[in-house]
Amino acid sequence: GAPVEVDVSKIEPGAMITEEWRGKPVWIVNRTQEMLDALAKNNDNLSDPMLQVTSQQPDYCNNPDRSIKSNMLVLVGICTHLGCSPSPKLQPGNDMGADWTGGFFCPCHGSKFDLAGRVFKGSPAPVNLVVPPHKYISDGLLVVG
Ligand code: FES
Repeated sequence: GAPVEVDVSKIEPGAMITEEWRGKPVWIVNRTQEMLDALAKNNDNLSDPMLQVTSQQPDYCNNPDRSIKSNMLVLVGICTHLGCSPSPKLQPGNDMGADWTGGFFCPCHGSKFDLAGRVFKGSPAPVNLVVPPHKYISDGLLVVG
């Protein structure tokens, strides 16, 4: 599949868009500073907070935010359990409970992921969501693939 260009300059802080690359949904979330600050709070409750399963992201995203630009999260929107499509639950709290810091919930078997796509302990999904290869060719123009 060919690389896909995405204008990310219009994504409001805290919002997400979905694009398609190689027949897969790719989520792009413009994380707020509050969302980024909340990531570290999840570390004790995650299966792989330090990204030791290196197949799940390119080397240049092997950092606490799992991203190139710290605000901009780019993920393949396919559950690493059996391939369902998780639902965005981006805002803290909401129907996920008071402790929820924002992320994604897979309705098929209940896997939970944070706003860096890292899987919570107790989820059937074995590994973090995939960060696809990507780069920026200008400040607001992302290329996936
Ligand atoms: Fe997502 Fe099973 S496919 S939890």
